[in-house]
Amino acid sequence: MIAHKKTSQRKSTQHLWHPCSQMKDQETFPPLKVASASGSYLTLNDGRKIIDGIASWWCKSLGHNHPQLKQALVNQANRFEHVILANTTNNTIEALSEKLSELAPTLNKALYASDGSCAIEMAMKMSLHSRQIQGDTQRCEFLCLENAYHGETCATLSVSDLGLYKEPYKPLLMDYPVLRNIPYVAHDQDPLWFDAETHWQQTLPRLEPLQHRLTAILVEPIAQGAGGMRIYSADFLRRLVIWAQSHKIHIIADEIMTGLWRTGKKLACEHANITADFLCLSKGLTSGWLPLSVMLTSQNMYDCFYGDYGTGRDFLHSHTHSGNALAAAVALEALTIMQDMTAQVQQLQSQLLQAMGEVSQATGKLSNLRGIGGIVAADLAPHPDKPRIGFAVAQKAAELGALIRPLGSSLYWFPPLNIPHDTLKELQQITTQAIQQAYQ
Ligand SMILES: Cc1ncc(COP(=O)(O)O)c(C=O)c1O
Repeated sequence: MIAHKKTSQRKSTQHLWHPCSQMKDQETFPPLKVASASGSYLTLNDGRKIIDGIASWWCKSLGHNHPQLKQALVNQANRFEHVILANTTNNTIEALSEKLSELAPTLNKALYASDGSCAIEMAMKMSLHSRQIQGDTQRCEFLCLENAYHGETCATLSVSDLGLYKEPYKPLLMDYPVLRNIPYVAHDQDPLWFDAETHWQQTLPRLEPLQHRLTAILVEPIAQGAGGMRIYSADFLRRLVIWAQSHKIHIIADEIMTGLWRTGKKLACEHANITADFLCLSKGLTSGWLPLSVMLTSQNMYDCFYGDYGTGRDFLHSHTHSGNALAAAVALEALTIMQDMTAQVQQLQSQLLQAMGEVSQATGKLSNLRGIGGIVAADLAPHPDKPRIGFAVAQKAAELGALIRPLGSSLYWFPPLNIPHDTLKELQQITTQAIQQAYQ
């Protein structure tokens, strides 16, 4: 067994640098070698089947190997795979843009990139640039929430609140304010979800001094991912957005993780009944088939940039694969399949909360259980000898048959939205055993 592990680790790391990983960890936790994937399962080279409990970094909303998405990809590949999107257009990207314009009432213009970070960065640049066009140059700062995560590029790291991810790069980053004391909740029936008046009154004095300096506030509506799978009050978000918009501050809704039914609504913004000035989607957009992100914005913003070339109104931002036709074709099909998932995700939400609650009862090692839509999380108790208890649990889970990737000691499931109930029960059983074994 040990010999096998060492060989696979050596082969895997010889020429490969894994993302967001400490490579030395592979000495004790070798990468799982995937041969194929279908639905909620990965099949490994050694024949074992592993549940993808985190939907492959939160993107496989419809699971792996979805036949209709595959067909959409093949159909597009038979026409053409990619043509520069400046100076050209095509039916696929036009149809996708039209469909995306139906997501939120005022956001009818779509600008594409490949990664989530790039969509956020486009929104930040556009917000700032629009101030210059309008002669409002003192608005040049951004505000983010505590525990925010908006991506890995320098601008998006500047509006993220995760020390570990950004600390080494400080000289490259901008120092923007962070709004703290966010009212976190356990679920959408928590009293704070509906009424955050007290928090809001404490927040206002911290916001007021910033009102003339801010061009935009960035939010991950309702659920923050990399910051620990935290859920916060819909009422607080609604108040924040109303305040911002009354002061002409843009809202950038980062729905890269939350968008397209992950929180039980088409957009997480709907929980708070808000509309953003910029809305970014990625991950579930192609259900994780191909990298595609989009920034949606309004006709007003479009008009602001409309004018003669070279007069400062040109948004000269591009990515080679902007609007890639293969990705667009898959996204169009995914959006068609995901037309209305309200009932399905509502059912998943109660199954996830119940299942994680049972893991908590069986192990006695979890606290702060929280969940919304297709997300459920809880915090692992500290272990006296294992400072990285989340890592230890993940390692045991992989041996037992599930891929999970706790964020520090926050354990979570983020499965495909169409995970069958039997598979979820299997994930529950594996997670329970993994926790029990990790604490032995
Ligand atoms: C809320 C949020 N914003 C932005 C990003 C960055 O997206 P990408 O990794 O595609 O650049 C992520 C990725 O996890 C995310 O969860």
